[in-house]
Amino acid sequence: MSKKRIVVLSGAGVSAESGISTFRDSGGLWEKYDIMEVATFEAWTRNQALVMDFYNQRRKQLYEVEPNAAHYALVKLEEQFDVQIITQNVDDLHERAGSKNVMHLHGELKKVRSSVDEDLVYELDGWELKKGDTCEKGSQLRPHIVWFGEPVPMIPPAAELCSTADIMIIIGTSLNVYPAASLVGYVPDYCHVYLIDPAEVNVAHIPGVTVIREKAGKGTAELVNKLLNE
Ligand code: OAD
Repeated sequence: MSKKRIVVLSGAGVSAESGISTFRDSGGLWEKYDIMEVATFEAWTRNQALVMDFYNQRRKQLYEVEPNAAHYALVKLEEQFDVQIITQNVDDLHERAGSKNVMHLHGELKKVRSSVDEDLVYELDGWELKKGDTCEKGSQLRPHIVWFGEPVPMIPPAAELCSTADIMIIIGTSLNVYPAASLVGYVPDYCHVYLIDPAEVNVAHIPGVTVIREKAGKGTAELVNKLLNE
């Protein structure tokens, strides 16, 4: 018998216990920085140095943190399930914990890409992207991040995965950012949805959802144990 498929939709909260700030919590990144100044293409054309520095600092921090109990619990889930992770996070903590199938909706911090040809994507050597680092076509490299106002090319394959989910687990996302937040709408009627978050998240559009009001580390480990023992 083939394994049941679990689709995980993760957000910044899954990495919070690793020491990476979320965006919209009190003290979160969007309280310290103006989205329009660091996370749009217009910002990039206006002030490359500022945008580059913002992502350089995020990338530098990524080399200093480790996956946490939530990331590791999701790896354990693979013992019995076909686990597909769709993450809004640009960190690589799911991969470093050992998860096999990770899809990044909003890009990846450790990668950079050409600013004239989006198919030219490179692993950055080290944490610092510098002015004058160019792609093979000679244009400045930019962070491999989906900025606000840009298309999200991974949405169609992510929606396809959701449409084949037996179980969906949503962890640590305020579900404020679209189209990512709309993915739960693609799951079939028989799919049971769990949502793990210590704060109240609007779940009015998720029929039959089981809400687990815990931090990701504890909530995910407990849910994974329950699913593996059912
Ligand atoms: P948000 O900052 O909007 O939401 C983080 C969620 O994590 C909130 O619901 C918190 O309650 C929850 N949280 C905080 N600590 C937690 C913990 N220890 N365990 C579990 N949950 C915890 O972050 P996202 O929803 O991921 O996009 O934001 C979505 C997108 O908006 C991001 O991918 C990013 C951002 O702007 C881009 O930069 C393109």
